[in-house]
Order: sequence, then structure tokens, then C-alpha cells
Amino acid sequence: MTDRINLSLTVNGKRENVCAAGISTLADMLRDTLGMTGTKIGCDAGDCGACTVLLDGEQVCACLVPVAQIEGRHVQTVEGSGPHGITDRLRTAFLDHGAAQCGICTPGMLMAATSLLARTPSPSRTAVEDALGGVLCRCTGYLKIIDAVVDAGTAVSAPQRRAPAAHEAAAHLVGRRIERVDGLAKVMGAEVFGADVAPADALWMRVIRSLHARATFVIADCAHLIAAHPGLSGVVTAVDVPGCNSFGIFPDTKDQPVFAADSVRFRGEAIAALVGSRHALAGISDADVPVRWTPLQALTGITAARAENAVPLHAARPDNVLTRGKLLRGNADAGHANAAATATGTFSTGFVEHAYIEPEAGFAVPDADGPGTMTIHASTQAPYMDRDEVARVLGVAPDKVRIVPTACGGGFGGKLDVAVQPLLAVAARKFGRAVRIVYNRTESMTSTTKRHPSHIEATASADAQGRLTAYSMQGDFNTGAYASWGPTVANRVPIHAAGPYKVPNVRNLTAAIHTHETPAGAFRGFGVPQSAIANETLMDDLAEKLGLDRWHIRRINALGRGDTTPTGQILHYSAGLPECLDALKPAWDKVNCAVTAHNAVNERRKRGVGIACMWYGCGNTSLSNPSAMRLTLDRCGTATLWSGAVDIGQGVSTVLVQIATDALNIAGLPVVLAATVGDTQTTLDAGKTSA
Ligand code: FES
Repeated sequence: MTDRINLSLTVNGKRENVCAAGISTLADMLRDTLGMTGTKIGCDAGDCGACTVLLDGEQVCACLVPVAQIEGRHVQTVEGSGPHGITDRLRTAFLDHGAAQCGICTPGMLMAATSLLARTPSPSRTAVEDALGGVLCRCTGYLKIIDAVVDAGTAVSAPQRRAPAAHEAAAHLVGRRIERVDGLAKVMGAEVFGADVAPADALWMRVIRSLHARATFVIADCAHLIAAHPGLSGVVTAVDVPGCNSFGIFPDTKDQPVFAADSVRFRGEAIAALVGSRHALAGISDADVPVRWTPLQALTGITAARAENAVPLHAARPDNVLTRGKLLRGNADAGHANAAATATGTFSTGFVEHAYIEPEAGFAVPDADGPGTMTIHASTQAPYMDRDEVARVLGVAPDKVRIVPTACGGGFGGKLDVAVQPLLAVAARKFGRAVRIVYNRTESMTSTTKRHPSHIEATASADAQGRLTAYSMQGDFNTGAYASWGPTVANRVPIHAAGPYKVPNVRNLTAAIHTHETPAGAFRGFGVPQSAIANETLMDDLAEKLGLDRWHIRRINALGRGDTTPTGQILHYSAGLPECLDALKPAWDKVNCAVTAHNAVNERRKRGVGIACMWYGCGNTSLSNPSAMRLTLDRCGTATLWSGAVDIGQGVSTVLVQIATDALNIAGLPVVLAATVGDTQTTLDAGKTSA
């Protein structure tokens, strides 16, 4: 084939002779030709550094290196030991420090660090920070990673300091620092993420998406397109959905189509998908698909969506209000009127992308678990929810669908919605073949949910001593084109909006508003961070008006043991806020003194110091939070924990092993305790990895 080239190079010290596509990259060659999927693809544009490898000892983004440039060169990947075993030493240090959480960035981090230690065996902390600067991590905050690399560069690093794995422990495990049960796979580059695996004969799938925020459309006959591209198996559209062409989180808000049928409500909405060989799909542009569009005026932003005569996005919601939430306690008006000071503000926040390093990916296999079944391997935070949504789309009973979560390279709430799962299921059912898909970064950002933009008007009042007398707010949240987790945001914010403080009078009102924008969904806090910005700003304003220290006004209002929350819940135990603030006080006083002294003598460059508190209730809002698991003991004395809780990097697999070991009182015995994660055929519904 004229577009392929033969190459000879060294990979981890081994000579490799490969034939690769001439326009492919080093990352493609490693993953697709050599099957070395330890090198991850996050952005495919040289920004995230997940694909960092060493080329002749220098760190490079493998996604940016054309294969034509690697003839005769030396490549080191996470699968190797590195020069003088440096990479192996780093692995141990990463496990020691818990530096691999979801693990999607870990191969790139290890390679960047290997390059540094090969040049500078004992680098300074600053040198480590510089060397790792090209690799992004969304989980760790970098400190554990930097600590690990610094340690690996010192004589005392390692093996002897290695924390015991779960099965090595001799005493109770809860409260002890142990190695992650899934840590080794992450530092070896052996963890299998959604894009890392699929059946060899799987067809590829690429989604065709709307370029318009609001439009009607017609897809013409695609027969000529299929005829012109022999490797194209076909085009999937709404007519191919065998069950309900809709999905959503709640029973009464399943409003998002798998494929839009004749109109779209946001830019990036799926209207069709090409399915075929990877080579064939690469030769077809989106513009080749015969779609006739009629663009329409879109509603952008909350104000436009709430305007009189604004077109409703959904017939069932004529005012574009998806749902409202409220919390009323006492008499907020009287609390404001009788206060010594009142602070009022208007606050706006925008869309925020989760930016997990792993884009959505997975594959579906029809009939693998019996006739009529559909098995889907994909990155997710909620396997049982995925199962039920796919079953609805296929028009089958839930037990006909099996979800097998792949390792999750970060979620942060963004993988609490289905993404690739129903698309894959429809295509696999249509063609009777395994089908795989890997979103690119642009597609992931365009089509998946975001943090809700907000518009908040809030007022806080306090007496002369700074004790809060009332809090009221109206918060409008842009939930975009479809419901997703909008009801949860609208109902969770009122409960939390007054902050972790004693407030006798509260009036918190919210609404989730539809616009022709990307659906907003779950994102770390379900709207509470947005409301905390308003709440904490007003706390500062009140302190200033009353001439009080900002620490002081928070401390005297902090909810502690025996206090009553705005919902009327009496806290029988302290959640720790008063104690936390007390612990902070010496540092707060010290830094305030330093800042005041600095600002007194510096006219141009000023310093500032801030303090803020936030609270967040774990679990579902106003719902029960069921979670079930099984423990089995086989004839050989092996205990196995069958856990359906998905570990997205937060470490639940390890923590559950610790808890189960202690609960069974088997620590120190020759018993292996393994966690399985989320396979809906082998584990019970443990709930979502959420909140
Ligand atoms: Fe770095 Fe998850 S551990 S992105």
C-alpha cells in the first residue's frame, strides 16, 4: 500500500520493524501497530501530555511526532524499565505516595520524570515541577506526584519505604496507609481504559453532529455514500433506534434523543453516525453526509430563554423552566429588616468543562452473553444507570444489557450521564457486530455535559455581633438543551446556599432553565460551588460592614454539634467546621499581620488573603441512597469482595477492601481479598460514584 511505510526503531531496548500508515503518529504506531496502549491519548494535540514518551531520551508528545521521523531512533515508554531502572524506581515512589489516582496521566508523568532523573539524579523540587510541566493531571493536585519524583531522586527512596499492599497487612487496615489495590496496573501502564481495548473485528463508529444550536434537518438517502466507500458498513440514524429514542436521569425527564430525528437543540447534538472500517471512516468527511439544514434563531443564555414569547425547547415546559427548587425557613423578610447590616450581590458564573484527561470511549458486543443481549465496555461513573438507559433505548429488559466499566480516566460528574453507550448499542444491534468508538477531545467537550452557568441574586443579614439573621437568594441555572442532572442542581442548591452557618430565616429559590446550549449536568457539587461563591462573598461584605474580622464572622456562625441547619436538621455530631476554623486561627492571624505589614510599605504591589467555607451533603438529594455488595468465601479460603462501586481515581476499591478486611477480622490471615468493579452481571447495584 502506497500510504504505508516500513520503519525500524528501538522500543524499550528492543528492535522493532513495523509497517505503519505514513500519515500516522508515534502514538498511533505504539498503540495500534505494536499494541502498547500504556501510552495514553488525552487531547491528541500536544496539550495534555498524557502521551509523553522519551525519544532518544527527550520527552515528547507522541501524538505530535510523525512516524516518518522515528526511523532508527530510540523510544522509551511506560512499559519499559527506563535507563538504570529509573522508571521502576519511580513506580515504587508513585505507589508509596498514592500519586496515581485515576491513572490516565500516570504513564506520561512517569516518562517525564524518567527523563529528568536520567539527566539529574537528585533534582530540586523546582526542577521536578519544571520537568512535569508538560503533563496535566486533573486528580491529584500534583503534590503527591512531585513528592514521589523528589523521593525517587533521593537515596532513601523506596523499596524499603513501600507501604504494604492490602493482602500483606498484619493488623487492622482502616486508618492505615496502604498501597492502592489497583495501583500497580496504573504505574505499569497496564490499566485498561475505554480506548485501550476492543474485539479485533470491531467496526468503528463516528458521530455526525449538528453545527447549529437550533435547526431542523433532513438526511437524504445515503446509498450513494455507502456505495462510494466500500469499507463503510452504513449510516445509523434515529430510525435505527429499536426502543425509545430518548434517555435521561429521572423517570420524568428522559428528554434527550440518542439521535435527533428532525431537529436539534444544541450545537454538537448527534444526528447520525458512520459505521465501518477505521480506514473507510477516515476517508469520509462529515460534509459528505447528505444533510439539509434549516437553521433557526437559538436561545442563548438564561435571559433570552426566560423572555416573554421565547420559543419553548420542550412542549411540556412552555416557560423553559425544567424545574424549580426552594427552601423556606422562618421569615426571611423580617430577618433582613431587623438586622444591623445587610449585604446584597448579583453573581454570574459560566460553563465549565470537566476536562477529564480520558475522552469517552468504549465498545459494544451484541449477543455476547446470550441471544438478544448487549454487552458494553465503557468508561462510566454509573454502570447500573447506564444499563437501564441502554435497555430502554434497545427496547429490552435491563437484564439483557451488561455494562462492564473500563478504567475511568477521570469523571468529576461528567461520566454520570451516558455518552457513547446508547450510540454503541444501537449501532451494534443494527449491524450485528461489535462496534467501538473513541471520542476526540473536541467532540468530548462539544457534546457532553458541563457545569451549570448561574445567575444568582443573594442577600445576607446579620446583627451587630455578626450573627446571621437571614439569607435569601434567587438562583437561575442554565441547564442547556436537555434535563440531565438539572433537577438535582435546582433542588440541591437551596439546601446549601446559605452556607455552613446557623441562619434562622432562609428563603432560597432556584430554577433550572432550558437554553439552546450544551446540556449542563453533574459536576462536583451539583450547583453548590456556584452558590458558595455568592454566599462567601456576602460573608466578607457583612464582616466589612460590621467592622468584624472575616474569620470571626464565620466562626461565630459555623454549624457545630447541636446546631440546626436551614432545613431543620439537628446536627448530633459536629462535621468539624468550628474545629477546623479554630485550627486555622493562628495561621490566619499570622498571614494577616504579614499582609498588612507588606501593604503598608508597598504602594504598587499589594497582597491579599482570603478565607472561605463550604459544605456539601454526601449522597443523593432527598432520596435514599441504596448500595449493595457481596462477599464470598471459596473452598480455598479466598474471600472476594464483589463491589459495584466504580473507582474513578478516588480510591474506593482500596477503601472497601480495608473496611471488608477489618469487618471480617481476617487481616494477617492468608486470605486474598479482591475487589471487582461495577460489572452489572457480577456485582449488585452499589449506586453511582457521585457526591
Ligand atoms: Fe492524573 Fe487522574 S491521576 S489525571
